[in-house]
Amino acid sequence: MTRPGRGRVVATGPGSRVRVGAPAKINLDLRVLGRRADGYHDVRTILQSVALHDVVSLTARPGPLLVWCRQDAVPRGSSNLVWTAARLLWQALDREGQPRGVSIGIVKRVPVAAGLGGASSNAASVLRVLGRWWSAPPTTLRTVAATVGSDVPFFLKGGTVLATGRGERTRTLPPLPRYWVVLARPGFGVSTPAAYAWWDRDRPVVGPVARPAARWRHQLHHLANDLEASVVRRHPEIGEMVDRLRVVGAEAAAMTGSGSTVFGLFGTRAGAVRARRRVRRRGWRTWLTRTVGPAELARLATPACMD
Ligand code: C5P
Repeated sequence: MTRPGRGRVVATGPGSRVRVGAPAKINLDLRVLGRRADGYHDVRTILQSVALHDVVSLTARPGPLLVWCRQDAVPRGSSNLVWTAARLLWQALDREGQPRGVSIGIVKRVPVAAGLGGASSNAASVLRVLGRWWSAPPTTLRTVAATVGSDVPFFLKGGTVLATGRGERTRTLPPLPRYWVVLARPGFGVSTPAAYAWWDRDRPVVGPVARPAARWRHQLHHLANDLEASVVRRHPEIGEMVDRLRVVGAEAAAMTGSGSTVFGLFGTRAGAVRARRRVRRRGWRTWLTRTVGPAELARLATPACMD
């Protein structure tokens, strides 16, 4: 057994079981700088962890790697990103054959194909636990995370982070003061490759990008998402949601990641509750959550022993 901070215990023996929160993110700002030779896009994005989270549990048990989730929309087994994460870590540590010795369960609360990074966050949580169980050096963990997905290195850190490259190069920023966040999602998701392909096609239409202001914390309404215009051209409903959030008093509102979820930031819980009520519409789902700083994030995302 190892004892991480905050009195929590990560068990490593057979049959031991841990549970870890996998918080979602919003992109406070997302600038697309251009398409690269490898097909990815260079970005400059400010990511922020929020309290809305999935719960991932890992059980050490003999036999092949198992990945399960009761929700229908979530891929099971080897098509789930946590499987990829476990396999790539296994291989990076020169272990033989297929990954084994662990069963991973996911309880989903974060909507899928929503731009909230749910799958990437699940993968980062699994890497954090398996990294301890399998004694992976931190550099190996970071390299594997970047291979699993562009957002996964962010989720190893969480908080308020500036990400560059294709999103995998991360720098922690001073924490944002707490904001209440209203999330709204239409009845459909948007695939990330599709959103970037639309941006490629539309570039002449959407025009050049500006950088976020240096004092962006004090000018949240200047924050923007370069993918938004192209996604809204195909899904005008998403634009309606952003407008609606502004009308009901959001200090800033935008699409997160490649959509389809949009967020509004509010200074008070009461303001956010009121806005959420007013933004509801048939076919739209809404959530009330809040930004999380380092202390709360540590509580949420540190593995807790369940035995
Ligand atoms: O890295 P990840 O697997 O999450 O990316 C999914 C897809 O999104 C990529 O295959 C690519 O089409 C697109 N993408 C991109 N530029 C990025 C991140 C993602 O074009 N910076």
